[in-house]
Amino acid sequence: MHAIGIDIGGTKIAAALVDEFGTIIRSDRRPTTASDPRGIEDAVVEMITGLAEGEEVVAAGIAAAGFIDAAQSVVYYGPNVNWRHEPLRATLEARLDMPILIENDANAAGWAEFCFGAGQMYSDMVMLTIGTGVGGAIISENRLFRGGFGCAAELGHLRIVPNGRSCGCGAQGCIEQYGSGRALLRIANELADAGGIGQGLAAARKGKGKLTGKDVGRLIQDGDNGALAALRQLGSSLGQACASLSAVLDPQIFVFGGGVADAGDLLLEPIRAAYLENLPARGYHPEAEFAIAQLVNDAGVVGAADLARKHVFTK
Ligand code: BGC
Ligand code: NA
Ligand code: ZN
Repeated sequence: MHAIGIDIGGTKIAAALVDEFGTIIRSDRRPTTASDPRGIEDAVVEMITGLAEGEEVVAAGIAAAGFIDAAQSVVYYGPNVNWRHEPLRATLEARLDMPILIENDANAAGWAEFCFGAGQMYSDMVMLTIGTGVGGAIISENRLFRGGFGCAAELGHLRIVPNGRSCGCGAQGCIEQYGSGRALLRIANELADAGGIGQGLAAARKGKGKLTGKDVGRLIQDGDNGALAALRQLGSSLGQACASLSAVLDPQIFVFGGGVADAGDLLLEPIRAAYLENLPARGYHPEAEFAIAQLVNDAGVVGAADLARKHVFTK
């Protein structure tokens, strides 16, 4: 039985028709206008209608970048998409003839990695998605952990710097401001301003004002010192958060997804180093594994589809 998965992030909407083994049959993709929830809703309706045409579809799961309620219906708040008490499930069910389930985007990605990807061999896994924001998923004792209000695993909003940078969630010093794709760009631009090892970054942004994710990704692959320094700084912040998370959740594996995870081992190395340096009971506590997501950019749609299908069949 096929289900549809939709992944609404800070910059794009991905959609896919997915079978029960997590295999994508067909997919679609559009840019997001984060400030326009009505436009997002219209795009989602069109994408679901298009993918469902001529198919038997049991449900659609919507992975949304925000705080979701326990009933999996309402987006309470989106730090990077303009959702405020958005009744996404009701609106979509009124326009579409199928059951809809709303899930946090990182939870959906984490679930997909646990079922079909890097987390398959483990009972306890933490996933961090490193994109526009920093998303989190917790699999604890083989279950996706949602918490009392549905908003657990908002790991991007762990505070790592007292009175630090202001975050889209309204708090200050969140890991999202130091460990996201946006943070990587900020750090890279700062290094470009400073000269020295930032010269390669400065050359890449010449004539256009700001570096893009693509520029920094390419410089990382080229081994540019400035770009690698920016990535190490990001990794160090993320690794410290992982050490603290170990004290709470004790996962056997940390999985990293999102655009910045394309950097692969270059990202994992500084994360692992900072984790080991800050791990409580270091030297005695078993070391967790660190891995890049296997489903790469498809994790969100695959997880959302699977959770929606399971929800329909366990009701
Ligand atoms: C949001 C999360 C989301 C993450 C990744 C964060 O800013 O609070 O809900 O999972 O970004 O998109
Ligand atoms: Na989450
Ligand atoms: Zn925050």
